[in-house]
Amino acid sequence: HWQPVDVDNVAAPRAKQQKPRCVWFTGLSGSGKSTIANLVDKQLHALGHHTFILDGDNVRHGLNKDLGFTDADRVENIRRVAEVAKLMTDAGLIVLVSFISPFRAERQLARGLFGADEFVEVFVDTPLEEAERRDVKGLYAKARAGKIPNFTGIDSPYEAPESPELHLATLDDDPQALAQRVVDYLRG
Ligand code: ADX
Repeated sequence: HWQPVDVDNVAAPRAKQQKPRCVWFTGLSGSGKSTIANLVDKQLHALGHHTFILDGDNVRHGLNKDLGFTDADRVENIRRVAEVAKLMTDAGLIVLVSFISPFRAERQLARGLFGADEFVEVFVDTPLEEAERRDVKGLYAKARAGKIPNFTGIDSPYEAPESPELHLATLDDDPQALAQRVVDYLRG
């Protein structure tokens, strides 16, 4: 049984005077997803929008702390965060989801929860060599040394999006310019 409520997913966004969105950042570890999502969030916030960031590294400390990095755990990780993002858009928020989300099928599943123009897939495209060269968290070095099994791009696959709403090539522009493209898309 689905319990009906009176303040629904039409009334809640109307009160916030914005179009709810799920902005889904996908890309390798260290590609710049969180940096760009954070810049988008700051700018939307400054423009008076109601937003929330769901970041893999953070959600894995709480809701998803029972999950690791096997394929099955990643699938469940994405399923849960997609459902949480759906609840947040029902509440009228612009949600910025920043997870590697390496598998096309799960990103498709997430997309399916939302209205046609509500889900915005953003491919943060940093080549593996570059993410590994930067190695911001030192995880690639550990993975190469065999200390982190199933590391994305090393011994676990990343399936790049085929037709994302936005394709951000991080070698071509700085994070601020890329964040601006996302904001322009959302407000365009
Ligand atoms: S996802 O694949 O399930 O979407 P998620 O975005 O939640 O991944 O978490 C990725 C972050 O976890 C990475 O940025 C990194 O800091 C950390 N991490 C730890 N182990 C791994 C691993 N084996 N593969 C990828 N990232 C890992």
